[in-house]
Parts: sequence; C-alpha cells; structure tokens
Amino acid sequence: MAALAGTSSQIIKVAALSGSLRRGSYNAGLIRSAVELSKVAVEGLQIEYVDISPLPLLNTDLEKEGTYPPAVEAFREKILAADSILFASPEYNYSIAAPLKNAIDWASRAPNVWAGKPAAVVSAGGGFGGGRSQYHLRQVGVFLDLHFINKPEFFLNAFQPPAKFNDDGDLIDEDAKKRLKEVLLALKKFTLQLKGNN
Ligand SMILES: Cc1cc2nc3c(=O)[nH]c(=O)nc-3n(C[C@H](O)[C@H](O)[C@H](O)COP(=O)(O)O)c2cc1C
Repeated sequence: MAALAGTSSQIIKVAALSGSLRRGSYNAGLIRSAVELSKVAVEGLQIEYVDISPLPLLNTDLEKEGTYPPAVEAFREKILAADSILFASPEYNYSIAAPLKNAIDWASRAPNVWAGKPAAVVSAGGGFGGGRSQYHLRQVGVFLDLHFINKPEFFLNAFQPPAKFNDDGDLIDEDAKKRLKEVLLALKKFTLQLKGNN
C-alpha cells in the first residue's frame, strides 16, 4: 500500500487556508472547527491551519533565480507537504477574496505545488453563504490541477438568526458542525481514493 505524500502512515495531512484575515473571521472559525472535528470525530485526518497573512502581494520581481521570498517558500513547503487542501473561502464582490487568490497565485508559480491535490471548499458569509466564491475557486482549480470534491457542498449564512458563530468567530451551530464533518469525511475518502488506497 503506497504511503501518502509526506507521511509514513495512513494519516492524511490537510493544509487548511482561510481567505479572510480579520480577527473574528467566520471562515477562519470554520477552519478552527474543522481542526477540532478532525481530532475527535474524523480518524486519520490531521488538519493544520496555514496562515496566509505573512505572504507579500504577488510580484514576480520578488522571484530570484527560481527562489521566492522566505514567507512564500515556507507557504509553498506546507502546501507541497500536504496530502489535501481545505479552503475556507469568503465571498468578496461575488468572487474569491484577494488574500486567498494571492496565496493561490504564489503557490501556482513553478513548480505548481497544488498540482494533483484533492481539495474541499467551505464558506460562510452573507445570503448565499459565500457560494459564489466557491464556484470561482473551483474554476481556478481546473488550471491548478486541484481535484475538488463535488459533494457535500457547504455554505453557511452567517448572518441569519440564530447565531452561527460567537463573538470570537467560533462556530457554535451544531447542524453546521455536522455538515462540516461530512465534508471532512468526503475529503478523506476522496484523498484515499486518489492515492489508490481505497
Ligand atoms: C470587500 C468585501 C466584499 C464583499 N462582497 C460580498 C459579496 O459579494 N457577497 C456576499 O455575500 N458578501 C460579501 N461581503 C461580506 C463578506 O462575505 C462577509 O462579511 C463574510 O463574513 C466575510 O468573511 P469572514 O467573516 O471570514 O471575514 C463582502 C465583504 C467585503 C469586505
């Protein structure tokens, strides 16, 4: 049985990114909840939150003979070492938030470290729960050679009562946690399938 990339066992390493940098971000809250769920309810999934805030704005002048600024190199290493990716993708003006697109673009520079990775996307936001950003992200994923799970989809209207998050941005809605767990289970299954382990 083939070992997973960057691991010597069947533990699946997931790099989790939030496209929102604000304190109290609901999307970062989804990632924190996913980390907690992975510890107690999804065996074999190890989720690491990868902070994209240290990344400079993309500028190819910062690339020197195939190397990147230290924060970019560190970020690219984390993506490369991951077996799969979890995106929490807020919707800004019907699309992907700029910080997330910036991170995606840095990791797409040669060699594209997204290539071949299974991925899932979740979002929290206004009326459509960030859904429009998800469809743009999936489109970008085609060129990156990311392989998104199709279902279950996870959108969460964060503003419709009752409250889904507390003041710190932690997810407090039990139904949403249940749905988030289903996403993690699907990502785990699909990752194992792509690795030929299932
Ligand atoms: C620049 C900007 C553009 C936004 N555009 C949209 C939008 O097109 N559709 C939407 O539903 N919400 C939009 N929002 C609201 C955010 O999606 C919402 O505040 C969400 O909670 C942000 O994610 P966060 O809580 O993780 O920071 C926008 C917010 C900002 C700051």
